[in-house]
Amino acid sequence: MQSLLVLGRQPALGLAELESLYGAAALRPVGKQAVVVDIDPCLLAFDRLGGATKFCKILTTLDTTHWGQIEKFLVGVAPGHSQTMPEGKMLLGLSVVGLDIGLRQLEATGLTIKKAVRKTGRSVRLVPNKAPELNSAQVIHNKLTGPNGWELVFIRDGNKTIVAQTVKVQDIESYTRRDRERPKRDTKVGMLPPKLAQILINLAVGRLPEDKLSSICEIPAGQPIPRPILGQTVLDPFCGTGVVLQEALLMGYDVAGTDLEPRMVEYTAKNLEWLSDMYGLEHKDYPLEVGDATSHKWSVIPDFVATETYLGRPFTEKPGPEILAQTAMECNLIIKKFLNNIGQQVPSGTRFCLAVPAWQTRPNQFKHLPLIDSLSDMGYNRMSFEHIADEDLIYYRADQIVARELIVITKR
Ligand SMILES: C[S@@+](CC[C@H](N)C(=O)[O-])C[C@H]1O[C@@H](n2cnc3c(N)ncnc32)[C@H](O)[C@@H]1O
Repeated sequence: MQSLLVLGRQPALGLAELESLYGAAALRPVGKQAVVVDIDPCLLAFDRLGGATKFCKILTTLDTTHWGQIEKFLVGVAPGHSQTMPEGKMLLGLSVVGLDIGLRQLEATGLTIKKAVRKTGRSVRLVPNKAPELNSAQVIHNKLTGPNGWELVFIRDGNKTIVAQTVKVQDIESYTRRDRERPKRDTKVGMLPPKLAQILINLAVGRLPEDKLSSICEIPAGQPIPRPILGQTVLDPFCGTGVVLQEALLMGYDVAGTDLEPRMVEYTAKNLEWLSDMYGLEHKDYPLEVGDATSHKWSVIPDFVATETYLGRPFTEKPGPEILAQTAMECNLIIKKFLNNIGQQVPSGTRFCLAVPAWQTRPNQFKHLPLIDSLSDMGYNRMSFEHIADEDLIYYRADQIVARELIVITKR
């Protein structure tokens, strides 16, 4: 059974997350922006994916990329499909990925389909495209995944076109709430987006056993996963305001966190309390402690470590070479000492995903932390991915100087 996922702004991160959870063999990337996933759709825990924006059911694959022929196919099938829907207005949306179609052409196709469906006596509302692909907000707002909705996604696959129907989109409202409404935020420590926190966790936990996935799949959409299902602990040793731990809790893990700053530990505790109230989670005294990650002795042995480490000073404009070298040295030293310290406390095989700083020196060119080249000497194996190059695991925006480089390692 195959599903198709449309990937987010940085598709490599979404692909890596999927490879981590389901293995490379279950995935077939389609162009840069989508991936066909060969697992039971029920086992695809879409809510816990930070890097996929749409979950679609594949309807068919056409032996063409010619838009005229694609339109002809649609005009043929749309009236029949509309008859399978409940009474009322049909809501139609069209999205194209990787095909060179202008908005005018897309609109014209929409109108042609609308006309064909109207002949059957049913009214149709076409959701206007502002871009070739409708975004999650448009899909949600126009109820395109509801009983009367039909969002069709056309994805170029070599000289073919996959036609898929959107079944779910990312719950953007919930992400915004988790990000903006939590009681304690701090712009100085940086704002890790919840989606990126999910990716870090998914990269840290690796393959999910099928029995766990089956249990997760019984949880209604949007509900947190009860902790006993997974029964494992995620540690964030640079927990800051607690975004990673918030997401880990919602994904069904037990959590533990430390930070050098007492204020940050307090913020994390407050945010976890708020989250537990908000999502009806059992309140628990999570092990949250003040501690310097370079020397701390943790009171829990974690199953996984997922963290955004110290990123050095924030830069709003490009620093001079000396300042940059000094900042990189400082971060390198702290993170290296941290890895040496925790390496003596966790069992062999413990998996980590670290978001460490990298500095964008020119568009799409980065200065990396030197320690990345000496992970093996430090007793760690770096995990590589089949579908993504290591250097593509960088989260950044075009205008950002401090980027976050994701590194997945296991303790030897
Ligand atoms: C980039 S922030 C992490 C932000 C976090 N992801 C969040 O959700 O807010 C890095 C954090 O590392 C902490 N930190 C810096 N040096 C540290 C050290 N040696 N040991 C532990 N924490 C440290 C800072 O206080 C800061 O909260």
